[in-house]
Amino acid sequence: MISDLIHALFYVLLARDRPTAIHCRNVSKYAMTIGSVLGLDSKDMKELYVAALLHDCGKVGLPDKLLKTSRKYTRWEKQMVQQHVVIGKNLLMSLGFSKEIIYSVYYHHERYDGMGYTEGLKGEKIPLFSRIIAIADTFDALISKRPYRNPLSIQQALNILKEAKGQFDPKLLDCFLKYMDKSYVDIKEDI
Ligand SMILES: [Fe+2]
Repeated sequence: MISDLIHALFYVLLARDRPTAIHCRNVSKYAMTIGSVLGLDSKDMKELYVAALLHDCGKVGLPDKLLKTSRKYTRWEKQMVQQHVVIGKNLLMSLGFSKEIIYSVYYHHERYDGMGYTEGLKGEKIPLFSRIIAIADTFDALISKRPYRNPLSIQQALNILKEAKGQFDPKLLDCFLKYMDKSYVDIKEDI
């Protein structure tokens, strides 16, 4: 039943905001890469996959004028958009998803240095899956086209991640960078 819900939520997101759904699918792929380098067991891999695939599902609750704009957000709009983690948490909670998945989604915009939102959690107080999703999320955002810039190359994106160490869990980032440095040439064609 939960697997039906996962697909239903994903398709609602796809219908509502296709670029976000595609981003979620990509993030799940990169998150799984980190999970497998870490050697997570199959139960954890499945929860990580679901949390990553649905990490932005709360965006279904945002108005079109915020979802589909290409201009920069005002401060107030930015705060509204940040509510997608709360909407996502409430949505997943009401559908009976596990705590692990709910809180991995809720905390995916926290930063390792404590400068993220919504709670400003720091370091390992942030759930492991949220720390993984944060890296995968940023990487996919960098290599994707945005209204205000062209996609970066994989190497450029990896260089930016390397420079942003305080933002991410350094051990997880290291895993991702090492893996991608070895195999990044094959990734882009796969997306
Ligand atoms: Fe997000």
